[in-house]
Amino acid sequence: MARAPRPPIVLVLAAGLGKRMRSRRVKILHEVAGRPMASWVLDAARGIRPARIVTVVGHQADAVRDALRKASDDFVLQAEQRGTGHAVQQAASLLKKSRAGTVVILNGDLPALETATLRRLLALHRRTGAAMSLVTTEVTDPSGYGRIVRGAEGDVARIVEHRDATPEQRAIREINTGIYCIEITPLLAELRRLRPTNAQGEYYLTDVVERLLARKMLVAALRHKGPDEVLGVNTRAELARASRALYARKARALEESGVTLHDASRTWVDPRARIGRDSILYPDVIIEGATVLGEGCVVRPGCRLTDVTAAAQVEFRDHSVVADSRLGRGAAVGPFAHVRPGSVLDANVRVGNFVEVKKSHLGRGTKASHLSYLGDAEIGEGCNIGAGTITCNYDGVRKNRTRLGRRVFIGSDTQLVAPVTVGDGAYVAAGATVTQDVPAGALAISRSVQKNIEGWVARKRRG
Ligand code: UD1
Ligand code: CA
Repeated sequence: MARAPRPPIVLVLAAGLGKRMRSRRVKILHEVAGRPMASWVLDAARGIRPARIVTVVGHQADAVRDALRKASDDFVLQAEQRGTGHAVQQAASLLKKSRAGTVVILNGDLPALETATLRRLLALHRRTGAAMSLVTTEVTDPSGYGRIVRGAEGDVARIVEHRDATPEQRAIREINTGIYCIEITPLLAELRRLRPTNAQGEYYLTDVVERLLARKMLVAALRHKGPDEVLGVNTRAELARASRALYARKARALEESGVTLHDASRTWVDPRARIGRDSILYPDVIIEGATVLGEGCVVRPGCRLTDVTAAAQVEFRDHSVVADSRLGRGAAVGPFAHVRPGSVLDANVRVGNFVEVKKSHLGRGTKASHLSYLGDAEIGEGCNIGAGTITCNYDGVRKNRTRLGRRVFIGSDTQLVAPVTVGDGAYVAAGATVTQDVPAGALAISRSVQKNIEGWVARKRRG
């Protein structure tokens, strides 16, 4: 039996600024589907179980390191950006330590890249015994990309950058994607021999192709169909295209797993989110972060859910914003509800229109149906919170908690001035300003006595 091949090292090139973005911020930190684009590349790379992932940083190195700290095992600094070949050279001593083996080199601007493609490239590389293998693809508009020049036999002969290409070469539609698999020993030997004799005066990693071929080594190419996955992002338009590609892929996967998206092109689900079967997502829904929805949930138009955990049969009615909160089975929020971080809504809770909930726990079956603010509140099960109820949780200095027992009834237009506690089963009459604790089973009323002045209107008109 053949020995299992050694896992490769992955090197991600992320030192460039990305001028074509016309941004103050480095290209690879621009977000695609809600995350810095390089994070997606690193995730795809992690999928091949490499020995380690090393990222080359340069422009805004600190910000890039911060963003990728969890995903990258190591960083190498390319203080001056003198080309992709020069970037790899900065990792030479690190690669040398690995004592031969294979390195997978990836441009950092490939957010739509999938692990499966890297696996296929590695398989080709091993099967052919090539010194270098690369992924190519055909595009209708190849401008800006390096062109794949093939020889008489149809084999890859060299890569010519757009700016160095002749008119005939510019007509070539097969391009280099910036995804490579290279044997470390010949790579290091040839890197040292690169010269910046090109239009940009840079050290091109792509020149290694010709040098290896000159040494009679093999260069293999994987022609990738469906270019969206392997196209580098250089411009804002391509950034948007990459997001669309990731959301479209997620939508297809959800559909295959039994989720309805009424218009997949208008529903954005973070690729990391999980959604139970028979859930229904309407148009203009945005689901972000590590949101997890159980089976049979309904998310109506205009909702944004960020890092939400919901059990089965939860309904998010139109235009609700819910973040970093947990919802129990059968709960319903909205329309126009705002559930802010740290909230827990137990099973069958109802939070209705224009209700804001923050860092509060609403017990099973509790209802706050209209126009309320519930902040820093601990609310028992089966309570009824009348329209316009406000927890006055802030006294100008600190946040205070409101505690309601079970089956409490709060009449409409009540202010609960925290810290305050209302006992089990108590009633608060409408229009109250509650500043003292209410014992269990009591009725709290705080309002001025109503006076009716008979005939007042008629007298006023005559006068
Ligand atoms: C590169 C390829 C080109 C290919 C294209 C695919 C070279 C010479 N050309 O071109 O053949 O078609 O990618 O998108 O490699 N980087 C560094 N240090 C540097 C320069 C770049 O780390 O000094 C990083 C960038 O951050 C980026 C990646 O390398 O993530 C590619 O750089 P970029 O300038 O976008 O490459 P292209 O010129 O588009
Ligand atoms: Ca460049």
